[in-house]
Amino acid sequence: MEAVPAAGSRAADRHLLVVFGATGDLYRKKLAPALYHLVRQYDLADRCVVLGVARSELREEEFRARTEAAVEEMAAGQARLGDPAEWCARMVHYQPVGEDPASYRVLRDRIERLEDEYHLSGNRIFYLALPPSTLAAAVRGLGVSGLARSAGWTRLVVEKPFGADLRSAAALNSVLHESFDEGQIYRIDHYLGKSTVQNLLVFRFANPVFESVWNRDRVDNVQITMAEAGGIEGRAGYYDRAGALRDVVQNHLTQVLSLIAMEPPVSFDAEAIRDEKVKVLQSIKPLQPDDAVFGQYTSGLVGGIPAPGYLEEPGVGGGSRTETYAALRVFVDSWRWQGVPFYMRTGKRLPTRLTQVAVTFREPPVPMFESFDRGRRKGNVLYFRLQPHEGFALLFEVQTPTDPPRLATMPLTFAYEDAFGQLPDAYETLLYDVMTGDRTLFVRSDEVEQAWRIYMPVLEAGIPPAPYPAGSWGPPEADSLFGPSGEGWTVRRPGERDPDDSRTAHS
Ligand code: BG6
Repeated sequence: MEAVPAAGSRAADRHLLVVFGATGDLYRKKLAPALYHLVRQYDLADRCVVLGVARSELREEEFRARTEAAVEEMAAGQARLGDPAEWCARMVHYQPVGEDPASYRVLRDRIERLEDEYHLSGNRIFYLALPPSTLAAAVRGLGVSGLARSAGWTRLVVEKPFGADLRSAAALNSVLHESFDEGQIYRIDHYLGKSTVQNLLVFRFANPVFESVWNRDRVDNVQITMAEAGGIEGRAGYYDRAGALRDVVQNHLTQVLSLIAMEPPVSFDAEAIRDEKVKVLQSIKPLQPDDAVFGQYTSGLVGGIPAPGYLEEPGVGGGSRTETYAALRVFVDSWRWQGVPFYMRTGKRLPTRLTQVAVTFREPPVPMFESFDRGRRKGNVLYFRLQPHEGFALLFEVQTPTDPPRLATMPLTFAYEDAFGQLPDAYETLLYDVMTGDRTLFVRSDEVEQAWRIYMPVLEAGIPPAPYPAGSWGPPEADSLFGPSGEGWTVRRPGERDPDDSRTAHS
C-alpha cells in the first residue's frame, strides 16, 4: 500500500537548512532520516541545502558519513531508501561553531558562500536541536551576527522543553523575541506532527454528526492516556529535573486536550486554530494539588521482563522525588464543557505503549433493558487511538442472539493502517511544514505560557510521588481523582487492554 504523503502538495522554496546540534541524538534519530525521506518524496534534492552545525571540529566528510549512517540505520528494512551517499555528498555540509561572537561571524560567511555556490536567494531555516541550557546563547548569536534577517525568509525552529515553568518560559520567549518575530518562530511539540493528532481536527470539524453531542449535555467525561512501557532510556540528567508533568503533560497531553475541547475555528488557518486552542487554556483554572496524583515506579515486570525501579536507574540520585507518573483532573470552564471532567494520565514503565483519548458519553436516562442484563447501563465510548494501531472505535450496545438475550458492547472501528498503510513520521510532517511556512502545527508563545499557568500550583506544591510497581497502571491513589462514585480509568488493571482493540492482545 502506498505511504500517505507527509503533507499536501505545497512546494518548498529553495533554501538553506542550518541544523544546530547536528552531532546530537535528535539529528541522528529523527531529523536526518526525516529529511532524507522528504528529499525523496518531494524531490527536494536541489531545493534544500543542509548545513550541520555543532561545537565538534568534524571534517565535512565525517559529518556526511554520520548523516548517511543515520539515514540507513533508521530506514533499515524500508523500501523508501534510495542512495543517501550521493545526496550527502552533493547537498550536506558541516561547520563547527563555538559560543563566541567570532564563531557566528564565521558561520555567517559560510552561509553566504553556500548561498552563492547553490544560487540560493537567502531563504534560511535555523533548526535549534539543542539542550535548553545552550538555546538562549544560540538565539543571541544569530541575532547579533545579523542572521535573524536575510534577503529571503528566515525561520527559527525551537524544540521543547519551552522553559521549566511559567517564569522561565516567559524569559525564553523574550530572548526569542529580541531577535525574531513570532511569525518566524516554529516551536515544535512533536505530538502535533502525528497524523492521528492532526486528525482530531478533521474528525471534529469535517464530521458534523458529532458536533451536536460534543458538549456537557452529552459527554460524561474525557480521558487522555499516554502510557509508555519504556523507562527513562538513559536520560536521567534531563528527566530527573523534569518529571512527567514537565516532560509530557504541559505540552503533549495539553495539546491533545486543546484539540478535543476547542471551538470550531473561523477557518483552517494557523492563527485561527491557535486562537481557539489558547481560549481553551484560558478557560482552565490553575489546577490545585488535590487535582493531581504523582507516582514513581519501583522495580517490577513489564511484559514479563524485569525492570529496575526509578531510583535504581543509572544517574538517578537515591532520594529523588521526581514523578514518573502523573494523573490529573482538569475542568474547562466554558459554556460547552462546564462540569465535564477531563482526566489525563501518563507514566513510564506502564504495561504497554498506548496513547488514546476516550470520550465517554452519558448513560441512557432510563434503564430500559433491565430485564436483559440487570443493572447494565452504559454510555457509548468513542476512542481516538493515537498510537499504536492508530484509528477510532465507537463502542455501542447490541443484543446478543442468545436465549435469553443479553447486551454486549461492540466496536465500530477504523484503522489507518488498513486504509492508508504506514503513516509518516511526525518529524517529516513538521519539517516539511517549516519548509513550506505552515505554522498551524507549531506552538505559539501565548499558548506555551497559558499551558504553564495551569500547572504552576501543582508544580509548586511538591506533591510526593506514590510508588507503583513497573508494569502496573500506576499508583492506586490515582483512582481517587474520580471521587467515590466515579467510573474509573477506561483501562486500569495490569495487562488489561482497551476494549476497542483486539489486536493489542497479540502485540
Ligand atoms: C518526548 C518525551 O517528548 O516524548 C519522552 O521527552 C517521551 O520522555 C516521548 O518518551 C514520547 O514520544 P512518542 O512519540 O514516542 O509518544
